[in-house]
Amino acid sequence: MPATSGPLGYGDRVKLTDPKGRLNTITLVPGGEFHSHRGIISHADLVGIPDASVVTNSNGEEYLAIRPLLSDFVMSMPRGAAIVYPKDAAQILSLADVFPGARVVEAGVGSGALSLHLLRAIGESGELFSFERREEFADIAKGNAAAFAGRLPENWTVTVGDLQEALPETCAAGTVDRVVLDMLAPWECVDVAAEALKPGGVVICYVATVTQLSRTAEELQRSGLFTHPQSSETMVRGWHVEGLAVRPDHRMVAHTGFLITARRLAPGTQLPDLKRRASKTDFSDEDLANWLPDMGAPGESERANPWTPERVGQPTKSDKVLRKKVRAAKQFAEDRGAEPA
Ligand SMILES: C[S@@+](CC[C@H](N)C(=O)[O-])C[C@H]1O[C@@H](n2cnc3c(N)ncnc32)[C@H](O)[C@@H]1O
Repeated sequence: MPATSGPLGYGDRVKLTDPKGRLNTITLVPGGEFHSHRGIISHADLVGIPDASVVTNSNGEEYLAIRPLLSDFVMSMPRGAAIVYPKDAAQILSLADVFPGARVVEAGVGSGALSLHLLRAIGESGELFSFERREEFADIAKGNAAAFAGRLPENWTVTVGDLQEALPETCAAGTVDRVVLDMLAPWECVDVAAEALKPGGVVICYVATVTQLSRTAEELQRSGLFTHPQSSETMVRGWHVEGLAVRPDHRMVAHTGFLITARRLAPGTQLPDLKRRASKTDFSDEDLANWLPDMGAPGESERANPWTPERVGQPTKSDKVLRKKVRAAKQFAEDRGAEPA
């Protein structure tokens, strides 16, 4: 299993930074060499040196050699679906209060970026049950996880299928501490999430658009099974801090997604303010149905489902591209000497 600290060794990923600040990430293998137009570094020269050391290439040029952090790893691993960025993963762990030993359900798995953060937070005593409707994505995630840990973690179960059908078959009712949903239509999973969660357990959903956020909030409230949902977004603005030039960076990732959390109520509990909200003085069912077209007003037959990846602006990948990504993830794991995923 690749080490996370201590001297560098075979199987480790190493980030090499050249004198101009250019980055290359390599995996140390016996007999391997890193080539650039500036010269060669033999992998053997890196093995055994302390993490975060400076090495010289065949032309005497200096490189900083340092192990990537988990956040570096997830940003550079093969992707099938869009990943949860480290800034949002950190918020998910905090807002959902993911703790060592927790039983956590996650869907979908996508490229496995969030899975890696969850696995680290729950530790070896926790259990992660991940669900993914597309087999190719599950394979990419497993390849990435094996590449990261050297093998698939024993406390991680990946089930291929829709969460709505697969979750009740995998986890008994009331046995799960946290449910994390990163998918197009999390509102379709509110009932199964509630069924699986222990009273007081947290559901957290990551969605890309305001329309998805609103639809999710309405369903959580309409279910009557959760506390009032809390919504937020996280913007991280880097700063340039050098001498007297101290200012925000010119560029930033302005938008990734929104987070919405709620706590599972004990069975039979009704929130006092739910009774108040039922008066609906602020908006009508018709207003809601206009804003969220599949939430038809009472008595109205259900409208067509308007939610597609294209309509919410999610890029989709062809089967051919996905198969290429699966091969890349498997190769990635193999290059790192991981057990087959
Ligand atoms: C944006 S990706 C997840 C990315 C992942 N969190 C990561 O950080 O790499 C969303 C995934 O959810 C899957 N998905 C959507 N609806 C689902 C459902 N009802 N059950 C299981 N998987 C679902 C999709 O196939 C897709 O792979």
